[in-house]
Amino acid sequence: MHDLRISVLDQCNFRCPYCMPETEFHADFEFLRRQERLSYDEILQVARVAAGLGVSKLRLTGGEPLLDKKITRLIAGLAELPGVDDLALTTNGMLLAPMAERLAAAGLHRVTVSLDSLDEEIFRRMSGGRGDLATVLEGIAAAESAGLQPIKINVVVQHGVNDHTVLDLLDHFRGTGHIVRLIEFMDVGNRNGWRLDQVVPSRVLLETVRARWPLRRADKNYPGEVARRYKYLDGEGEIGFISSVTEPFCGDCSRARLSADGVLYTCLFANKGTDLRELLRNHADDEELADVLSRIWLQRADRYSELRRPELAEAHVLRKVEMYRIGG
Ligand SMILES: C[S@@+](CC[C@H](N)C(=O)[O-])C[C@H]1O[C@@H](n2cnc3c(N)ncnc32)[C@H](O)[C@@H]1O
Ligand code: SF4
Repeated sequence: MHDLRISVLDQCNFRCPYCMPETEFHADFEFLRRQERLSYDEILQVARVAAGLGVSKLRLTGGEPLLDKKITRLIAGLAELPGVDDLALTTNGMLLAPMAERLAAAGLHRVTVSLDSLDEEIFRRMSGGRGDLATVLEGIAAAESAGLQPIKINVVVQHGVNDHTVLDLLDHFRGTGHIVRLIEFMDVGNRNGWRLDQVVPSRVLLETVRARWPLRRADKNYPGEVARRYKYLDGEGEIGFISSVTEPFCGDCSRARLSADGVLYTCLFANKGTDLRELLRNHADDEELADVLSRIWLQRADRYSELRRPELAEAHVLRKVEMYRIGG
């Protein structure tokens, strides 16, 4: 376990149809109440113990982590943990501009911003009618000025929805130092109406990109990195492909995910995890928690992506944890 993703809250200001469709996540939907969510002290204890067991990368995610106005306090605590050399946050970018300086000052190293299209209308649709493109672009610029780099831009590609706008988006970010990552539409959760025919395989996208700009393959930055990296031959930067549907990468996965209510999942596609909240609220000490974490990790045998059967995924008969609860 090298990489821990911490979902700080399950709420979101967007309703991306591939993640939290409005029809399911409507005004009456009950999100976690404050007392159901882990406190900062509880999150810090899990992160501290995980760091002691070898985790060096932490990522704050959600739902939308920047809806938590006090998140800089949590970041400051995480930034002090020995052994953590990478502290990142994934956001939809809507609230990033006014917070970027404070996030950096608190000790955040870098951000990943999700941005599916530079076509205003398509972007708006893919945020469930909530996103404003100019605001997200301002957020990215503010993150750059604050030094929250390298900035990654996550793009979920859906056939017939935004796939025809991918080249424009790549063109916009070429030469900026920001790394665009093209992500296959995944069958996470049970509510996003996933269909195989909406997945654009990375190899198809790669050919499309290559036809416009020659690319060369780049090595992994570290074992377990999920994005397949490519560099533009003309030196204008790097892009990545995340292909968990068509080219699963379970074998060297080194990630664990902590939901906002304290359940630890060892796979993005898991249907159950281990509840740490009870343990934390019963005042488990670091040693007890370390035992539990090691046991969970040593016993894991997840390889959902490798065993995926599209017909089962499409029929929605598998129960899986929702993406907005564990943050991608
Ligand atoms: C769940 S979000 C949480 C953080 C933040 N709200 C955001 O959107 O960046 C984390 C990442 O998961 C991605 N994601 C959500 N649902 C997905 C799906 N069905 N397939 C692929 N990626 C998905 C999002 O695009 C985002 O980049
Ligand atoms: S992908 Fe992120 S921004 Fe979109 S609904 Fe899910 S949590 Fe919210």
